[in-house]
Amino acid sequence: MGAIQMVNLQAQYNRFQSDIRDAFERVCHSGAFIKGSEVSTFEQELAVKLNVKHVIGVANGTDALQIALMALDLSPGDEVIIPAFAYAALPEAVLLLGLKPVFVDVSELDFLINPDLIIAKITNRTRVIAPVHLFGLTANMDVLGEIAEQHGLFLLEDAAQSMGSLFCGERCFGSSGTLGHIGTTSFFPSKNLGCYGDGGAIFTNDDILAEKARMIANHGQRKKYYHEVIGLNSRLDALQAAILRVKLPHLDSFIYRRNQVALLYSDSFREISQLKIPALNSEKSTHAFHQYTLIIRDGSRNELSEYLAQKGIPSMIYYPLPLHQQKAYSTAERIPVSEKLCEEVISLPICPELTDEEQLEIVKNIKSFYKS
Ligand SMILES: Cc1ncc(COP(=O)(O)O)c(C=O)c1O
Repeated sequence: MGAIQMVNLQAQYNRFQSDIRDAFERVCHSGAFIKGSEVSTFEQELAVKLNVKHVIGVANGTDALQIALMALDLSPGDEVIIPAFAYAALPEAVLLLGLKPVFVDVSELDFLINPDLIIAKITNRTRVIAPVHLFGLTANMDVLGEIAEQHGLFLLEDAAQSMGSLFCGERCFGSSGTLGHIGTTSFFPSKNLGCYGDGGAIFTNDDILAEKARMIANHGQRKKYYHEVIGLNSRLDALQAAILRVKLPHLDSFIYRRNQVALLYSDSFREISQLKIPALNSEKSTHAFHQYTLIIRDGSRNELSEYLAQKGIPSMIYYPLPLHQQKAYSTAERIPVSEKLCEEVISLPICPELTDEEQLEIVKNIKSFYKS
């Protein structure tokens, strides 16, 4: 057994090596590295897979968020409701555009924005609710959709971690990221659908938003050298699109395997009273298990992580500090569940290529840590 990794990208490359080499060759021979048929074909294939009208490939998941917000035509000072326990890309994009992030606490049950706390944060400047489908579970888009509709707000989904999760509600139904007005994802290499560099995409069923987002991502131009709005240079390149086209047909099997790994972890840890295992799904959402994240109830999180590191087992703290306490965008607010989670969470290795042998080694060491 080699060294255990959080995500084993080399093993995945070995699986798809010959198809990926063919894809590289195809692009190199075509000479079309930016835009072109490889990108548009990938966008169409992903749109079919997710059952969404428009997919717009962009340079990364952070740009996708920024462009999606720009497409909504907001004004400086407008407020965007976001979870306090999440990745930094969303508040970053919000603040770069002169908008105001309004942090809302998450639920300990699923790590997702707590819909019960949203209404109290809505003001006459609120324009967007932006859930982050953290760790691979889709937030309750039925409830969020209802709140958004009642208050005339946009719903922007950050689906960077939830590619492959399905939401089956009464109000809306479909793939994570395609359920609000506009959604985004990341193809960062370690993501559920990852490329070999940076990449991202925007999803929408709205023709006008799609056209605006496409224009903004390409220097604000619809027609070459005619710049209608201020835009960005944010394009998914052809090599990345070609790699994603190799992996896309395997997405369902990746998610299936991630769920198998999660199930084995949960079955193994159920008896350890210090550990709170994550939900395997929610009432309405399947889990894409981008991360398998435990809550450690007895204050032993850091000791466990050090113990595992000594045994050659990696683990990660997603995230060590909530967004409202980050130096770059801090507020004086107390947001208790998010703050507590940052002290208590630990994420274990999970990826489709994690072998049973590796997983049993991880489980064995966690069990032995709590026995001692
Ligand atoms: C929830 C979330 N949103 C956005 C991003 C940003 O994606 P990228 O790294 O492609 O810019 C990430 C990436 O880690 C993420 O996890």
